[in-house]
Amino acid sequence: MNTVYIREMYPDDVDEVLEIERQCFTMPWSDTSFRSEIYGRHSITRVAELNGIIVGYICIKHVADEGHLLDLAVHPDYRKRGIAKMLLADVIEELRLCGCRFFYLEVRISNRAAKKLYETLGFRTAGTRKGYYMNPVEDAVLMMREL
Ligand SMILES: CC(C)(COP(=O)(O)OP(=O)(O)OC[C@H]1O[C@@H](n2cnc3c(N)ncnc32)[C@H](O)[C@@H]1OP(=O)(O)O)[C@@H](O)C(=O)NCCC(=O)NCCS
Repeated sequence: MNTVYIREMYPDDVDEVLEIERQCFTMPWSDTSFRSEIYGRHSITRVAELNGIIVGYICIKHVADEGHLLDLAVHPDYRKRGIAKMLLADVIEELRLCGCRFFYLEVRISNRAAKKLYETLGFRTAGTRKGYYMNPVEDAVLMMREL
């Protein structure tokens, strides 16, 4: 079976998620960061699972009518198969159910793959945040789409 399932992230998933996180980011989230999102009242956390293995994940925060992307990654061996798109489609549905009208995110200016992904899903540039990222220091593009 090669079906990708999107499901809630559980505390038992954190070790697997961390392995992907450390491969994808120069300043990876910690175990505590993921756990606090899993239990957060205003958080939405999802994993993408393929044949019992976690291949991607997403963490979102929502406050009032705004959703904000906090973390998204797909394991390097499973990219370009539509998994990030599935994760985002799932949380967009959930944000709508929560009454959110706007979805915001930041992305490194140099991250062409992610920017293309977000544009494909209807996000548009809403501004820049100077020196938003560390290691290396880099500006963020702020992107937004209406839900
Ligand atoms: C960005 C990332 C999440 C994309 O995951 P993915 O599962 O490969 O993305 P998808 O297969 O769903 O891609 C959907 C669309 O995004 C765009 N896209 C994705 N990867 C791309 C790439 N390397 N180059 C150009 N466009 C790309 C394409 O438009 C693609 O549609 P297509 O395959 O029909 O052309 C993944 O590359 C990743 O984990 N990167 C490292 C972590 C990261 O940068 N996270 C985002 C932080 S803001």
